This record gives sequence, C-alpha cells and structure tokens, in this order.
Amino acid sequence: MKTNHFLYGGDYNPEQWLEEVWEADMKLLLEAHINELTLNVFSWAALQPSEDEYDFSKLDRIMDLVRENGFSVMLATSTAATPPWMARRHPDILRVDPDGKKRKYGARHNFCPSSPTMRKYAPLLARKLAERYKDYDNIIAWHIGNEYGGVCCCDNCQRNFREWLKDKYGTLGNLNRAWNTSFWSHTYYDWDEIVIPDERSENFISEGGSPITQVQGAYLDYRRFHSDIMLEEYRLERDAVKAVTPDIPVTTNFMWFFEDLDYNKWARYMDFVSWDCYPHYDTEPAELAMAHDLIRGVGGQKPFILMEQSPSVTNWQHINPAKRPGEMTMYSLEAVAHGADGVQFFQMRRARGSAESMHGAVIEHSGLGGTRVFNEVKALGERLEGMSDILGATVPAECAIVFDWESWWAVDASQGPTEIMDYKSECINYYRGFYDLHIPVDVIKPDDDLSRYKVVIAPMMFMVQDGFAEKAAAFVQNGGCFVTSYLSGLVDKDYLFYQGGYPGPLKELLGVWVEEQDALPAEKTNHFTWNGKEYEAHIICDLIHPLSDLRALIAENKKVIGDIDYFRDKAYHISDDAGDAEVLGTYTDDFYQGSPVLTENASGKGHSWYVGTSSTPEFYRDLISTVAAENGVKPAVDDAPDGVEVAVRKNDKGTFAFYIDHRNYSVDIRRI
Ligand code: GLA
Ligand code: ZN
Repeated sequence: MKTNHFLYGGDYNPEQWLEEVWEADMKLLLEAHINELTLNVFSWAALQPSEDEYDFSKLDRIMDLVRENGFSVMLATSTAATPPWMARRHPDILRVDPDGKKRKYGARHNFCPSSPTMRKYAPLLARKLAERYKDYDNIIAWHIGNEYGGVCCCDNCQRNFREWLKDKYGTLGNLNRAWNTSFWSHTYYDWDEIVIPDERSENFISEGGSPITQVQGAYLDYRRFHSDIMLEEYRLERDAVKAVTPDIPVTTNFMWFFEDLDYNKWARYMDFVSWDCYPHYDTEPAELAMAHDLIRGVGGQKPFILMEQSPSVTNWQHINPAKRPGEMTMYSLEAVAHGADGVQFFQMRRARGSAESMHGAVIEHSGLGGTRVFNEVKALGERLEGMSDILGATVPAECAIVFDWESWWAVDASQGPTEIMDYKSECINYYRGFYDLHIPVDVIKPDDDLSRYKVVIAPMMFMVQDGFAEKAAAFVQNGGCFVTSYLSGLVDKDYLFYQGGYPGPLKELLGVWVEEQDALPAEKTNHFTWNGKEYEAHIICDLIHPLSDLRALIAENKKVIGDIDYFRDKAYHISDDAGDAEVLGTYTDDFYQGSPVLTENASGKGHSWYVGTSSTPEFYRDLISTVAAENGVKPAVDDAPDGVEVAVRKNDKGTFAFYIDHRNYSVDIRRI
C-alpha cells in the first residue's frame, strides 16, 4: 500500500463511550499526531440486531466525526465476534473443540468457518458496509475480520473436509495411498467414513505432553483444509467489499509465527500484509526481528503495516510490565527498520470494562493527554513525520531463510524421533547468526525465486515438495550457497517417506547419506569439532556418511536381491557426477565419535552445506560468518557494536541503516 506519510494510529472503539467523550478523543488524538483510526472491529451485534434489521446510525456518526477531523480510516468488517442472538438462533455458527465439546456463545473469534449462517451473514454485512461508506474518501483499507485463527471440528467442517479431500484426491484409491491407510487397518471405502483427525479419533496427548497424531497424512490435510476454509471465509468478505470498492486495498492482521494458518497462501489474497506485534517482556530480540522479516516475506518483501502493538502494557500475558521510557518507540522503529510503512496501536482509549480494560492505550483511564505514555506516542508521531523519505523502501538482502508452514506442520505431526525438536526454534537459530553479524536476511517461501540470493538456508526442511530439490540444485550450479540441516528431505507432499536414504531428493546435492538419527534427551549433550573449535550438539545427532557409502551399499544389495526393477526406482539411482561432500566437522562422543556432522559439497559454481545437529548461538554465528565470507556477503554496516541490531532499507532516496540497541531502547537512523 502506498502512502506519502507513515500511517500512525490504530484500533479505536468509541462505541463504548458516551458521545461527549468522542469529541475529547478527537482533540487528544490529533494532539498525539495520530493520523489513522481502525474502526468497527467488534460491532456486529450492535450493527445487526436480528436477521433482517441493521442499524448503522452510530457508526455513521463515528465515520462523520472521524472524517471531519481529518483521520484516515481502516474500516473493519466487524465479523470477528458474532452476535449472541445469532448463536442462539443459528447454533451452527458455534465451534466444536477438538475434544468434541460444542461451545456455547461467548468471547470472540468464535465462528465456525463452515457455518452456513456465518457464510451468509458475514459477507452480507461486509457488503452493506461497503455500500454505505463507499464515498468516504478517507477509507484507506478494509480490515477483514480480525486475527483469524483457532480450529473447529464440527460436523459441517467434517462435511467440508470430505469435499475438500474429494477435490484434492479425486478417488479414494488416491487418498488411501497418500495417507498410507493400509497401516492400522484404515482403508476407506466410502468418503463418509472419513472423520476429522482430532482428540476423538487420531490424536492423543503423548508421554511428554505433546499433542500427537497417528495418521500424519490426514492430520496434514486437516491443517491445510482448515487454513483454506478460514481463508475461504475471509475471501467471501473480501470479495463482498471488492465488488463495491475495487480500489480500496484489503488486509487482515496476522500474528507472529502463527502455526494455524499458512500465511504464505493467505497473503496471495491480500493487497498488503499487516501484523500484530506483542512481544513478551523477555522475548529475544532476534526472534522479534525475524517475526518482522517473516511477515515482510509472506507479503513478497514489500512494505507492510504494523497493525497493532500496545503503547504500554498488554493484559493477557502472565505478567505485564510497563514498557520502559523509549521502549515503545524502539519497537515501533524496529518495525519500520524491517519494512513497515505504518505503526499502529491497540488501542486508542482504554476499554471501560470487560477483558481489555487493563490493556494499554494512547488515552488511559484518566482520560487525559500529557501522561508519560501519551507523550511518548506524540513524540514518535512527530518523529515519523520527519521520516517519510523511507516510505516504500525495501530491504536489500543477499541471504534468505526458507520458512515453510508445510514443513512446520510436518515436524509437529511426526511421532518421533523426539518431542523437543522444534521447527520454529531451529529457523531462529540460523536467523540469529545473521542477526548477530548485522547481515540483512529475507525470510522466503519454498516456491520463491532463489536466484536473487547468494546464500539460502532451509533449516529442518522435513517436507521437500516436488521441484524444490531441482531448484536448489540449479541455484547451487549457478554459484549459490545452499544450507540445510538435520530432519530435512524426509517426506514428500503427502508425508510419505522418501525411499533410498535420507535426505531424499537432496542427497546428491549435499553429497551425503544420513543413515540414522540419534535423539538426545534434553539434559544430554554431544559435541563436535570444526576448524579446531569444539561446539555442543543437541536434540538430534544425524549419523552421516559420504554419498559413496550409499552407492556402495546399493551395489551390495543388488548382489543379494538381484538387479531387479526395484532398483529402477529413481530413489536408488545416484548419478555418476554426484560426489562426496567434504567432512568439515565430526562428533567427539558416543558410538558415532569421529563421524561427520558438518559437511560441504561443491557442485557447479556453488556449494551446499549439511548441518547434522542443533547447536548453540556461537556455532550458528561461526557458520554464517564462514558462509558469508565465502560468498562475498558483507554486514550491512561495519561500525555496529556487538549486541546492537542493524537493519537496512533502501529506495531511490537513499539507504537507511537503523542501529537498534535493545539494552537502552535507543534507535539511531543513518543514511549510508
Ligand atoms: C489482538 C487483537 C486486539 C486486542 C489485542 C490485545 O491483537 O487483535 O483486538 O485484543 O490483541 O493485545
Ligand atoms: Zn465447524
């Protein structure tokens, strides 16, 4: 979305106060340099008292007042919390939990995405809003729903799931093959035999307390289906407003690393992406920085909007410390540093009652400007007004980390080898290496173009989908550096394990064969040496061979089995050109002491690395530093002290380097 100033505002819910309060709010918000208000996020029950009655009179007054005062508006469709009457008269709108519990009316984000009631009335409301307010030229975006998420396991969802499966597989034979249903007698003869994999069917809580499934193919498809059915509901509302106001951009607010929804897919249906940033007081700065880069990445590396953050406290964390002086400003400018063209808050005025009355706001319960928080909001507004040269700038990254919801789901679906494996944390481990070295990095999707990067890292790429291995190989042939890690190349898109040795379709590129995985208990550490230094090995230790060991083993097996058709399968075909990786690091302990853990393989003009374990920040930093040096990647600046975050944006007005010191909340912005 293009603007000529930073959007600066956020959620404003004036419905909760008498109208004389609105007048004061307008004055105070202008005083605070607020220029945008997000309206109508949770007003459905007030706007629609029954099936065929609508009452927009209050919203009309709010819209007029806000326009008269010169604010831009992001207008929400108000569908993220359903009206109580609707739930009572049309209970299909209520969700069923994974344990089979049918919800009563309550809270918010409470609709079933398959509910015929929801699918009728939500887009209808969206359309009525668009028709009513289409001539307000201060509407700069539609805000559909709010923070989509959660799961429903009701009969309507089950029916839709079966339809989704029919569309995907065509025949039950295909589904039975993909889900490997001959295991544990699951062969299906009728689509109606298929049930949602939930706590009543395939899922259970493991020894270690993790939710585990027993039919990974079904579980993955339910996650995909659920992300899609939610998206379908979003799209009904989106299409309804687009039909009336095709030129107004549409978004919804994403959240952090949010596993329920495949944001990479969702972003295709959004004109710009936006997200809500609520770090805990002890959130690691590198994780927060990566979350910004992740959201920029799902939006195709274009500028995004920080849709919400608290100006001071949240109220839903275990303990909610006040943001220290400068802290809110630092978080805001950090978002800008990573690509935000708008900085927004939840909420403009503290709620009068109910859940969010202890949540921070620009105007707190005192109802007055001039408070510490208010003054910091105002000062930031003034500062952003002087920064408009940065608008539209992108991040000049030469390195990328692949982050894939499909692999994330696949790792979480896997029963074994360990419950402490963690896709997101392993991705952050690599990100932290770049972060510590002040090297800008993009977070990308597996189907993004790799050729614009010098280094691409795909940690724990458990699921390798068709075409990725070939793309990575071409990238390396042309001089790129590809890095991947333990638990990569295990399954295909159906969660069927690749035959012929791990890491499946990546083994020729990497020049290795992974024979086994040893899962380490949390309290146990192995070690390895690389370049004369010793590092710790955690979580999983891969037992790795040079590729020629696999070639030799296949030859031995041919002697036993005979050179039959079995070996015609491409899984057993290793091309003559595929060489052995060079062993860079070896384990120091246990029965696999001395065997490889870190390898590098040359092919074409480039290299590929395999990292067979999880380690400490020191290792990732050394690894990234080596790989960066070998591939001509330099830090964004060379004068940043250790511990200071650096992020860079670039456009035709210049290159802007942000030096962010999380220890004292300072942000220094320099043109470089
Ligand atoms: C989310 C929601 C908001 C509000 C804030 C509170 O981001 O979108 O409506 O509840 O959390 O932190
Ligand atoms: Zn449902």
